[in-house]
Amino acid sequence: MPHVARYGLYSLKQLNECYSTREGPLYEDALIIRPGRPLEGDISIKGAKNSVLKLMAATLLASGKHLIENVPDIADVAIMSDLLRSMGVEVSQIDDGKLTIVVPDEADLVPRAPYELVEKIRASIVVMGPLVARYRRCEVSVPGGDDFGHRPIDFHLNALEAMGVRFESAHGYISAATPGLVGTQVVLEFPSHTATDNVLMAAALAKGTTVIENAAREPEIIDLARMLNGMGAKISGAGTSRIEVHGVEELMPARHRVIADRVEAASMAAAVGLAGGNVNLIGAPSLYMEMVLEKLSAIGLTITHTSEGLNVICRERLQATDLATLPYPGVATDYKPFMVTLLSVAQGVSIVTENLFSGRFKYVDELRRMGADIRTQGHHAVIRGVPRLSGAQVKGTDIRAAAALALAGLAADGETVLLGASHIERGYEDFPGRLKAVGADIERL
Ligand code: EPU
Repeated sequence: MPHVARYGLYSLKQLNECYSTREGPLYEDALIIRPGRPLEGDISIKGAKNSVLKLMAATLLASGKHLIENVPDIADVAIMSDLLRSMGVEVSQIDDGKLTIVVPDEADLVPRAPYELVEKIRASIVVMGPLVARYRRCEVSVPGGDDFGHRPIDFHLNALEAMGVRFESAHGYISAATPGLVGTQVVLEFPSHTATDNVLMAAALAKGTTVIENAAREPEIIDLARMLNGMGAKISGAGTSRIEVHGVEELMPARHRVIADRVEAASMAAAVGLAGGNVNLIGAPSLYMEMVLEKLSAIGLTITHTSEGLNVICRERLQATDLATLPYPGVATDYKPFMVTLLSVAQGVSIVTENLFSGRFKYVDELRRMGADIRTQGHHAVIRGVPRLSGAQVKGTDIRAAAALALAGLAADGETVLLGASHIERGYEDFPGRLKAVGADIERL
């Protein structure tokens, strides 16, 4: 039966009729969340978004049939599939977590990433490394900024230039060409995740040895290196700040299983913190979550490592703590919206510092509309915990912010309507359905 919740004088149907955007009725892209009973049961953690997108790009390094398993059914994978298809690659639909990718021979591939797709998914910049390595040229639309600010790609370009790529930029596109990549020492100014991905993939087919200093150490980099090594690459040191890659002449198609998503696992742990309860996170990559688990424990969650993943229990009011985001192994910036939401209902005052993306506090205004007491200045937020939030209509503007606002609804009196719910679908497979299965009162309108 369709939902007929009322907002003041109007039903959702009437609101949809009144308020429409280019994408359709505003209230259609919405989740409705009500506080309910504590969460109980199991949640299986899916494959990592920030790994699978790079693994899909890495298939460009070898023609033939690749098989990737444990692929989450999320919108970003669909967009990356479309991007590969636009180049002439065959990409199957996801079937039971399996994705088959057939890369044609060099002559049949169009090494171009068009604006329409790059604009939808910034991660598409990672096709640049494999394209210049294998096809010696490519054209990629320049990615714009996004909802958490200016996001330059200078580290990617400088590193690839050092390996022998020449870039030209015109009409919103970057054209890259090289007579052949040559291994060299690449020192990244900052351990950028996708810049490390790009250099790693380019170096796999470069002539000679590439050493990446100050490389990102994220577990998804380890996953990418594992897949590349499975294809015949010679990479050592992934997961440390110094990665060494001995270029090879040719790679074989891959068969690889995607690592589990640590951000999804932390999001689900936050759901338990906000709703209370006892939930097993099956397959959570606990080995790679040390710092965030320490912080979640500090604010009052009881977290136990189990043979299947993690068990998370929350029965008491949460406690304030301070935290600062840092590249891995620090507390990732992607966890921050969940941490800020948890701290907004914790006892005491917390200070949260963002060190990666200056604009990544946008959702705070929305939390304030739900009664949170948060002041932001520059890259700091001071959070005075309130006992409960108050359900309201709020809008999510990126994947993590939207998911965190939906979870805030679990700790809010009354109904919360989250607009922009499709952001969540970019990075989480069936977010409402899986939370509903453990007792959350959440549904897609
Ligand atoms: N930076 C530059 N120049 C560059 C590249 C990065 O100045 O050429 C700066 C950025 O502006 C930022 C810092 O370096 O201040 C780190 O950015 P990084 O390059 O590491 O971010 P990213 O690789 O673009 C990935 C994830 C993000 C995640 C960040 C940080 C993917 C597809 N995206 O982005 O994930 O927040 O690392 O860990 O892997 C998400 O999943 O919601 C998400 C946004």
